Amino acid sequence: MERINFTEYLQHPVFGLIGQTAAQLQTPAFVIGGFVRDIILKRPCTDIDIVVAGSGIALARRVAAMIGPRYPVTVFKNFGTAMLVYQGFQIEFVGARKESYREDSRKPMVDEGSLEDDQNRRDFTINALALSLQQENFGALIDPFNGLKDMEELIIRTPLDPDKTFIDDPLRMMRAIRFATQLHFFIEPSTFDSISNNKERIKIISAERVSEELNKIISCETPSNGFMLLEKTGLLPIIFPQLSALQGAEFVDGRGHKDIFYHTLNVLDNLAQKTDNLWLRWAALLHDIGKPATKHFEAGIGWTFHGHDHLGSKMVYRIFNQLKLPLNEKMKYVQKLVLLHLRPIVLSEDQVTDTAIRRLLFDAGNDIDDLMLLCDADITSKNPEKVKKYLENFLLVRQKLEEVEKKDRIRNWQPPISGQVIMETFGIPPSKEVGIVKAAIREAILDGVIRNVNEEAYELMLKEGEKLGLYPVK
Ligand code: CTP
Repeated sequence: MERINFTEYLQHPVFGLIGQTAAQLQTPAFVIGGFVRDIILKRPCTDIDIVVAGSGIALARRVAAMIGPRYPVTVFKNFGTAMLVYQGFQIEFVGARKESYREDSRKPMVDEGSLEDDQNRRDFTINALALSLQQENFGALIDPFNGLKDMEELIIRTPLDPDKTFIDDPLRMMRAIRFATQLHFFIEPSTFDSISNNKERIKIISAERVSEELNKIISCETPSNGFMLLEKTGLLPIIFPQLSALQGAEFVDGRGHKDIFYHTLNVLDNLAQKTDNLWLRWAALLHDIGKPATKHFEAGIGWTFHGHDHLGSKMVYRIFNQLKLPLNEKMKYVQKLVLLHLRPIVLSEDQVTDTAIRRLLFDAGNDIDDLMLLCDADITSKNPEKVKKYLENFLLVRQKLEEVEKKDRIRNWQPPISGQVIMETFGIPPSKEVGIVKAAIREAILDGVIRNVNEEAYELMLKEGEKLGLYPVK
């Protein structure tokens, strides 16, 4: 790695200002953590952490006063930190700390400490690098744990005994895996072993913090690397048992099925090459989640997973709830894609009829393109003949989807006769009958029995009403 001149990255006047102000207060200040790491990784970073051998809050206040009268500072007294937002930077000031944690909790007892103490209590060597802001050695790298070397050798390692670092904050076990996945680094063996040994402690971490890291892993270029590490360290069965349960291939009469865990990771990686949409990636992760519970061996047929799409879709709520992921339209989107993920496949095997295409368009609505991306990613066969056949079929489905959409405009479609019109026509209140008539019109259009036009739908409404003993009031 070429020698880095860190001073170049500290040219913005704010760094000099912090250094001078710190000197006035006689409390040396350093840039530390992610900002320094990201300089070396050449990743843009606007979050600056400043550690101060003294009061972070006092330094932040003084710096703000130098910027301008009444320049806002956000102070978090409980944490002893203060934050300044200045010219696109978010600058957080914290007094150097020596922390110790009680065995049963994450709440730290904090004592004042030196820069070295502060570096000791950080998670990884690559996150413990500091740059001096003192005039005499402005921009000097302070690297007591050879973090720069680990950076060059692509290693995630804790500064101290890993057991201590992970017991202090068990979320760091997930962070180790997340950084390894994000940066394509390796977890150093004793750090890795310590994660395995301390895995149970992840249980004291809130589901929100765990899933924040999970989401970061899912958002990586090759998310499977992270999930493999989660599985190998034993964290996965604790934080996400349903996913871990996809592992293993069962054999009956010499016939096995593919390992659904590895297939799922394959699908996720395939999809990750096509989209950054986190929730679509979640759909990939969960598309076969219903398989273990629906698995059967049928003599003469082999392994079947009937209804795994329906069951999987039902499992989404519980998984999102357990991981404290949002139970909103994002979840509904994932449920929908899991439910529909077989539909284009069935279509391509059958004859691709207009009716089937209309129904798929109606059910998928605006998410049809995402569904097709998921289906493409779901092709993980190693047999090139099969892959070719599936891709050709999907191409046909796509062409048909376009044709039918042009003709019938089913995507985002609302049937031409609303519930309101039905109630007014027959002079009835909201009732079961309104739903029956509405569904009959929708089905007739989707089946191509009538065209998607007002007059034909109105006529059908009158007929369906008559069957229920309803007649127009005017
Ligand atoms: N840190 C730590 N233990 C944690 C979280 C953070 O030791 N559980 C330290 C690390 O030194 C880290 C710094 O606090 O560099 C800032 O943390 P944060 O802003 O969460 O993360 P970054 O490392 O900047 O990375 P990212 O923004 O990708 O999470």
